[in-house]
Amino acid sequence: MPDTVKYMLDEGRIPKDWYNIVADLPRPLEPALHPGTLKPVGPHDLQALFPEALIQQEASAERSIEIPEPVREVYRQWRPSPLYRARRLERALDTPAKIYYKYEGVSPAGSHKPNTAVAQAFYNKEAGVKRLTTETGAGQWGSALAFAGAEFGLDVRVYMVKVSFEQKPYRKALMEAWGAECVASPSAETGVGRQILAEYPNSPGSLGIAISEAVEAAGQHSDTKYSLGSVLNHVLLHQTVIGQEAMAQLEMAGDYPDIIVGCTGGGSNFAGIAFPFIGVGLRGGPKPRVIACEPAACPSLTRGKYAYDFGDTGHLTPLVKMHTLGSTFVPPGFHAGGLRYHGMAPLVSLLQDLGLIEPRALAQNSCFEAGLQFARTEGILPAPEANHAVRGTIEEALCCKAEGIGRTILFNLCGHGHFDMQAYIDYRSGMLADHSYDEVELHAALANLPKVAAQ
Ligand SMILES: Cc1ncc(COP(=O)(O)O)c(C=O)c1O
Repeated sequence: MPDTVKYMLDEGRIPKDWYNIVADLPRPLEPALHPGTLKPVGPHDLQALFPEALIQQEASAERSIEIPEPVREVYRQWRPSPLYRARRLERALDTPAKIYYKYEGVSPAGSHKPNTAVAQAFYNKEAGVKRLTTETGAGQWGSALAFAGAEFGLDVRVYMVKVSFEQKPYRKALMEAWGAECVASPSAETGVGRQILAEYPNSPGSLGIAISEAVEAAGQHSDTKYSLGSVLNHVLLHQTVIGQEAMAQLEMAGDYPDIIVGCTGGGSNFAGIAFPFIGVGLRGGPKPRVIACEPAACPSLTRGKYAYDFGDTGHLTPLVKMHTLGSTFVPPGFHAGGLRYHGMAPLVSLLQDLGLIEPRALAQNSCFEAGLQFARTEGILPAPEANHAVRGTIEEALCCKAEGIGRTILFNLCGHGHFDMQAYIDYRSGMLADHSYDEVELHAALANLPKVAAQ
């Protein structure tokens, strides 16, 4: 068919397995360390937080891990998600590049996050867990876990970073509609929250703080476990349905990407779109350039250190080797709340160390400008996080134009921005600052990295 815009797969084509890139890595991941002993964590160290099946996935080196049928059954509500050819954006840019985007905003919560929320809720339910605690930055992850909790009959309590909680009251309402509870973080409910409020009563919160609160709260009840929306190996694993579907859809289009672009907060949607393609390259197939777009105000990949660090501000989680700005670094309150995390997934960090991905830091105003150009051509209003991928894609498409080369670009449009209208109002009224992080604070946070013998 000429000029196809949308490439759709039927429900039978939802992947049957998740793809685990660990099987194809040229160098193994370094182990996570216990926060008390600094020795490698064993499965029993994680049992208070996660059910057995997820602990096994976290450590697995199997290339394929079967997706349980009850998870695929819920996935069928919105998966396979569409792959679009951005023909009107291409025309507006007057680029010879072909631009494709995988749209994850069709999920009930409006982003890629339910791909792992549904899986995590399923495994917790199977293990007899009654209640989950979690953090949320943008509110997308909290919504996704609230939805998944409703599907599997689990109570969900969400600690939402205070600046986002204030920017986006309707995200809280959405979580409550699915039966979850949502509180602003730092809160007076946990020891970590009380300590931070005592020192910084006006703290805007951060994902690192909210994670500490959720982990602490999970430890208070034997029927409660903790759920994380990014960073960990099993979370990235669950997101690989995105790239696997995109590969099949590009095959329908008779194309293969030269360039893949994703935005990176903790790394999960980026991994979801990119890992299946990077895996093909690691097994001897084509090797697209892979670009990770992060906010200039929280630049863990471009300015962070590759070192062992805590995943949270309260130092309750294991230490992992990752690109980090330091666990005490509190990023400025810019509008892509899902990208305000001090670290990066160990798997994404290792790929960068191996030179297999290219990081790029982008200022928020340029990303909103790209998002509006996208909305005015393609019609979909991206989430502020996704705008980073849109911006990176437009930059690449304009390079293609300057060089007169028609490359194929694939990017992940990981969520819609319907709950982010205040951000767009602020952008359009010229009120968004291109925050820079505080250099002194960054220096101090990096100076406080834990001393681990083998770095
Ligand atoms: C729409 C959206 N995109 C991206 C992210 C960043 O997370 P990750 O890097 O794990 O995809 C978030 C996190 O909340 C999000 O809500």
